[in-house]
Amino acid sequence: MTTHTTLHSPFARFRRLRRSEGLRRLVRETRLSPADFVHPLFVAHGHGLRQEIESMPGQYYLSPDGLAREAEELRALGIPAVLLFGLPAAKDEEGSEAYADDGIVQEAVRALKQAAPDLVVITDVCLCEYTSHGHCGVLSPSKGGVVTDGEVDNDRTLELLARTALSHARAGADMVAPSDMMDGRVAAIRRALDEGGFAHLPIMAYSAKYASAFYGPFRVAADSAPQFGDRRGYQMDPPNVREALREIEADIAEGADIVMVKPALAYLDVLARARQRFGLPLAAYNVSGEYAMVKAADRLGWLDGRRTALEVLTAIKRAGADIIITYHAKEAASWLA
Ligand code: PBG
Repeated sequence: MTTHTTLHSPFARFRRLRRSEGLRRLVRETRLSPADFVHPLFVAHGHGLRQEIESMPGQYYLSPDGLAREAEELRALGIPAVLLFGLPAAKDEEGSEAYADDGIVQEAVRALKQAAPDLVVITDVCLCEYTSHGHCGVLSPSKGGVVTDGEVDNDRTLELLARTALSHARAGADMVAPSDMMDGRVAAIRRALDEGGFAHLPIMAYSAKYASAFYGPFRVAADSAPQFGDRRGYQMDPPNVREALREIEADIAEGADIVMVKPALAYLDVLARARQRFGLPLAAYNVSGEYAMVKAADRLGWLDGRRTALEVLTAIKRAGADIIITYHAKEAASWLA
């Protein structure tokens, strides 16, 4: 008895189209491009600052005066967008530098838009880098002397997030990206932007953002680790996927223009489900811990960092991401050229 696959050919049928790079390229289903990438940047006060971040090799703290050069590099590489995180001069209980018109992110936005009007400048909207306690919102008065992470005051935080987003918009941001995981923040920010004359400004919502160990290197870099408790009272529980779809649905109903799944690699199932269910542009955040793992293993000689990073980014795109926020953006863009 002969089967179809062995009837005429000495080759197994799947191997015929794998025999050369030309053939493989021709039938490739997923194509990675620098145009898919958003590069996160850490901006800090000062002049001439370009200091490598220890927990994230290859990433730098930059002062606003160095952003023109950075923007030029990104343009040359074909990377269309950046996502800004700020290191404030001082922190306080209410995270007031987050929404100060002379805050570090606001200053960085102005510098970037002046130097590179075509670069899409997205700002992360959250309080955790700016609060003395490191939580993503303001705290409720303590109950019986005990304050827990579950007691971040949702509604009072919404006001401050809305002020932050509006202040970024006034500085010239092209898009705001709330990452705090308070309930109702997309609606609050949408309303503040609309009332402030920024009805045209899109919101990229960190919709399905999990309480993840993969944020470790970022929290060292941004000095944003909570001083007590953790973020499990507001970020999502990693075992949940149906809840992620409900979070995304809610953000869309509140006015999100782009929705996000974060982290990416351990949540590709969430990404794939979101892709099937929703038609909006879908972003995935390839977070600091995912980046640091590849860098560390590459340094130790345990993995080929280049092949691994490209495989990771391809997998994120294959799972359904239209936009990939990644610290690999520059090196990957240069490898793809
Ligand atoms: C702020 C924020 C975090 C990240 C992006 N925005 C940290 C956190 O939620 O603790 C993490 C990004 C990364 O790990 O690369 N809320």
